[in-house]
Formats: sequence, C-alpha cells, structure tokens
Amino acid sequence: MYTNVMFPLIKEILEKSSAEAQGDEVCIRGWVRTRRDMKNIVFVEVNDGSSLRGIQCTFDMEKTGIPAEMLAALGTGASVEIRGRLVPSPAQGQAVEVAASSVTLLGDASGYPLQKKRHTLEFLREMPHLRGRTNTLGAVMRVRSRLAFAVHRFFQDRGYHYLHTPVITGSDAEGAGAMFRVTTLKPADTAPAEGETTKPGTGDFFGRESFLTVSGQLEAETYAAALSRVYTFGPTFRAENSNTARHLAEFWMIEPETAFFRLKENMTLAEDFLKFCFQTILEECAGDMNFFDERIENGLIRTIRSVAESRFVHLNYTEAVGELEKAAAARTDLFEFQPHWGCDLQSEHERFLTEELVHGPVIVTDYPKEIKAFYMKMNSDGKTVRAMDVLVPRLGEIIGGSEREEDLAALEKRMAELGMGEEHYGWYLDLRRYGTVPHAGFGLGFERLVQYVTGMANIRDVIPYPRAAGQLY
Ligand code: 4AD
Ligand code: MG
Repeated sequence: MYTNVMFPLIKEILEKSSAEAQGDEVCIRGWVRTRRDMKNIVFVEVNDGSSLRGIQCTFDMEKTGIPAEMLAALGTGASVEIRGRLVPSPAQGQAVEVAASSVTLLGDASGYPLQKKRHTLEFLREMPHLRGRTNTLGAVMRVRSRLAFAVHRFFQDRGYHYLHTPVITGSDAEGAGAMFRVTTLKPADTAPAEGETTKPGTGDFFGRESFLTVSGQLEAETYAAALSRVYTFGPTFRAENSNTARHLAEFWMIEPETAFFRLKENMTLAEDFLKFCFQTILEECAGDMNFFDERIENGLIRTIRSVAESRFVHLNYTEAVGELEKAAAARTDLFEFQPHWGCDLQSEHERFLTEELVHGPVIVTDYPKEIKAFYMKMNSDGKTVRAMDVLVPRLGEIIGGSEREEDLAALEKRMAELGMGEEHYGWYLDLRRYGTVPHAGFGLGFERLVQYVTGMANIRDVIPYPRAAGQLY
C-alpha cells in the first residue's frame, strides 16, 4: 500500500512487484534528473529523494497531445507533477514506468548548476543547498537519518533515557579550551578601559562568561546519578582549528552515561552499540549501501558485515605504544611523530594500530593521565586513567570514553592540580558528595559513524551544512 494513495512516493511504487503495480493510476511529484527525446516519445526520469532510484515517465506526444514546448521545459532540476498509469517497463532495472497522460511544471530550472555529468564532492560542497539532490548526498542523508533512529532504538531498548543537555554552558567539559564564546556584548564593550582589568563576562547576558558546549557529559553524569541510564544526542561545538577530513566545528555527539558501570561494561556497551548500528544499516539501507559499495568504497559492505560479526581487540595504551615503537624501529620512515610512552596517539598511530596491526576495530585503554580529561578515574599506578578510545580503520578514533572518578578526594586533588575551581564546578563535585557511585560513559561522534558506514572520505560530506574553520555557507 502507498502511504498516501493520491501521491505515492517513487520508492513505494518501485517496491511493488510489476504485477501488483501495473494499471495503478498514479500522480508522482519530484525533480527531473534527465530527459531524452526519441522521435515522438519523451523520456523523463523523475526522482523524489525517497530512494536512490527515479522512475521513468514516458510521454507519447501524439497520444497525450502535450505541446512540445511544455515537454522541452522539463530539464534537469525542474520540479514536476506527472499523472499517468503504471505499465510494464521495457527499460532495464525497473519493473514499471509511468505512461504519462499529463504533466504540470511546478518550477522550471533553467541554468541549474547540477547537470547530469558527475560533479566532484569539492564542487558540490560549494552549494550545500542543492547537493542533497545528487545521488551521493541523497544516499548519505538517508543513511544518516536511519542511523539516528537506530541510535535511539538501541538505547531506548536497553532502558536508557534520552537527556537534553544544554547548548549554552559555563563549563569546559573537556578542559581542552577549544570553546566558542557566546556573548551579547559588542566587541568594544568587552575591552577593559585602559589600565583596568575586568572580570570576564561582567556585564554580559549571563553575568559571567558563557560558551557553546563541547560535550554534554558532565550534565549527563548528574542525570545518570538520578535515572541510572541516560544518553544525549545533540549538537556539540569545538573551535579546534584543525582542517582535517574528520573534524568539524559543529558536530553531533551521542553520549551514554551509566551509573554502576565500570570500564569493562562500558567497553562492551560501546562495541554492542556500534555493531547494532552497522547491522541495522545493512538491513535497512541496502539500496544506498550498494551504491556506496560500488561508487565510494569497494568492499565496504563486506568490511562492515565482518566487523559487525567480529570481536573488537583490546589493547592497553602501554601495549599499544610498545607495538608502535617496535614498528617505528623496524621502519624509520613509518611515522612523522615518533611514538613514546606519554605521547598522545596521533592519527597516523591510530591508523597503524587498526589498519596494520589489528586489521579492524581496536579499543585502547588506560592512557596516561596527562593526555586525558580531568574527570577520568585514576588507576592504582597513579599514572594512568581508565580511559577507552575505540579506533577504526580509515578514521582512527570514533569513540572516546572512560570510567569517571567517583571519589571526592581524588577528584578534588586532580581538579586542583589543573587549576579548576569550586566556583564553577561545585555542582559537579556535589555528585561525589551526595550518594556517589561508580559510573562510566563514552561519546561517539555521529558524523564519524556516518563516515564509517558510508565510506565517505571527508566528514564535510556527511552533514547537510558543514561548519569548519573558515567555512560557513
Ligand atoms: O573524545 P572526545 O573529546 O570525548 C568527549 O567529549 C567525552 N565527553 C565523551 C564522553 O566520555 N562522554 O569526543 C568524543 C567523540 C570522538 O571520539 C569523536 O568521534 C568525536 O566525538 N569528535 C569529533 N567529531 C567531529 N569533529 C570534531 N571536531 C570532533 N571532536 C570529537
Ligand atoms: Mg577523544
């Protein structure tokens, strides 16, 4: 059945068998992809974005009596409403086509910049408002939508509550200082008068400095200490000036936080979660996934299926660095940054671990405390923390998480070392004062997940309107 009998989606028509569909009187609406003329017949392929596939509509000029000028206006990009009857199609790859009896041109598109030839992704990035009408971007956004829904399904089915954490915040959750300031002051108002110093944020909207959030984690922890299991899924902002194929200034993050979980359970949750997303997309987006497999990355489906059925390898940081050092000693030109205990893992190190050592996802744990955030649970060695990063081939880090320091004294000590005051983080310490419990969580960059399953090389091509340093369309 069509979801709307009057105006079926093209996908719904194409999903019916030929025998079922034949004879249906339909009205389709969409955008012209191509038009071909052959003698008295005009073939128009229309796509409505419901799937990758368009439907062919044929106009017999003699029979329908539609004027030639009318049909001539049906160029690529034009929006149309076409009525007709479904008939068996002689064309390859589709059971039926529309033998059109009438057409309404809703909007012509002369000068439309996206012609039939294949455009590069760089060219398409210049027109984010139109690129959704291409095969590639259309497929990406459909997969993105299904993935978002799968995220909710996974957590809701496991007793997690969806928590909306604030976008505007006063705290730097990651302590990394890569925050966008939010202010209503004019630049001139914020400059202190000569010889004077002003407290940051004085006279501003909130009476103190405020920023766009880099993570909803700290607030999620407060609700994990109330509802036991919560997850966030919202926009996140980072003013990192990194112009890479895996960083955005505005991205979406999913952050589950679970009371009573230790690192091990957190690792299992992350692995189950990723596999659920992979499985779901293979089942529910077969058409689009075939497209990515053929056009974007050969063997993609096989890889994702095998990862969904594999067990993730676990390595602790010390073991991982040992492997990197061994490899670097054997091949001196292998890395730009020479690995050593204490260094932050560079993207090239992460890729070596997943692509060359493990040949699949790997979870690295127990990093040195100096390179991780203040809230992570200290190990008994006093040097490493219960951190976990999930690394995957092509991308490196896809998930970052940890067990949290639930001990008040230990957390206070660490925060004092880092110069973080009670003034702004007292509420966070209260969690450790009143009914503290072990807890753990992680963050998944949603765009990195979309990148991984679609095989898209650049993160700017998996979000409708990418925001990155120097780029705001
Ligand atoms: O490792 P990160 O910084 O961890 C956190 O923010 C923790 N608060 C998460 C938690 O424990 N609740 O970021 C988590 C993930 C990364 O693994 C990466 O996938 C993604 O967020 N990410 C980005 N994605 C796109 N662009 C950026 N600039 C990103 N920065 C991080
Ligand atoms: Mg991280």
